[in-house]
Amino acid sequence: MYNITLIPGDGIGPEVTNSAKKVIEATGLKINWDIVNAGADVYTEKGVLVPDEVFKSLEKNKIALKGPITTPVGCGFRSINVALRKKYDLFSNVRPLKTISGIKTPFKDVDLVVFRENTEGLYSGIERSISNDSAEAIKVITRKASLRIVKAAFEYAVTNNKKKVTVVHKANIMKLTDGLFLDCAREVSKDYSHIELEEVIVDNMCMQLVMNPSQFQVIVTTNLYGDILSDLCAGLVGGLGVVPGANIGDNMAIFEAVHGSAPDIAGKNAANPTALILSGAMMLNYLGEKKKSDIIINAVLKTIGEGKYITKDLGGSSSTIEMTDAIVEKILA
Ligand code: NAI
Repeated sequence: MYNITLIPGDGIGPEVTNSAKKVIEATGLKINWDIVNAGADVYTEKGVLVPDEVFKSLEKNKIALKGPITTPVGCGFRSINVALRKKYDLFSNVRPLKTISGIKTPFKDVDLVVFRENTEGLYSGIERSISNDSAEAIKVITRKASLRIVKAAFEYAVTNNKKKVTVVHKANIMKLTDGLFLDCAREVSKDYSHIELEEVIVDNMCMQLVMNPSQFQVIVTTNLYGDILSDLCAGLVGGLGVVPGANIGDNMAIFEAVHGSAPDIAGKNAANPTALILSGAMMLNYLGEKKKSDIIINAVLKTIGEGKYITKDLGGSSSTIEMTDAIVEKILA
């Protein structure tokens, strides 16, 4: 029996977390879900964005499956997602992106993982207005945070038999901050002589990714570039609806899709549940339940491959619930 915190989030969050819960339970795994919520909906109801019970649950269970949470642009509260990642030092944001048979995209053989530094960079929240006409933000890069994210990427490469890690930076312009990140990558790479360290400047990386994405295996980069590149890479494999993710620290892990709360389709039973279901599969793998994780992945791939019960973003006409039920049926069979 596992104790797992479940944070539904808002927007499409409750719909896709419900799907993921259903699919995970179909594997027969016994889970005691501790359901607590945070975000805009909770704020409206309770006047607080992250109630204490969320922190308590995370600190007790140390593992969570989380739906997306809306962050207003330009005003209001800072991102709860960024705050949770910082508070619990979930330094490694891991996003595997793989071509899925049955999804129409011009790109073939994409099989890469983005390691995004999750706790600092331009997301450190140090911003101020200088006057009505100017504002500034501070980009924080530390040796400690840079070394550990690069090490996580190399360790992944070792475990998964990858031959190359690509560090993405802009050290030609940001000589001190990105320069430090790059130096750390070079330092870590010395301990992995059998794995190549490739250095690519972020603008060139964007072009390379859309020209020939299959040349990359493991990408490691700072917070902002990682955020942007993961959405770009999602576009290579069928969109945000199919890309899972994890925020992993030394003592806690929160699993969540790359996508946000998708207000344009929220409450319409139209969201693709794949990304959160696959995040759930990543979570089971993290728990050592590889067999059950693989069962989920295979059921998802089969459902998409058959193309009968897929959501609109994948070219189909099924609802979230219909696609979820098709995946559950395959697991039970
Ligand atoms: P978004 O990822 O919510 O949506 C971008 C586009 O992708 C939209 O057209 C949406 O309909 C589509 N899309 C996203 N997920 C989908 C799914 N599962 N199935 C089908 N289509 C899907 O990005 P956006 O609009 O930039 O952000 C909306 C809100 O979500 C913002 O407040 C943002 O801050 C927040 N957000 C939260 C995240 C989290 O909680 N981890 C991550 C990213 C954004």
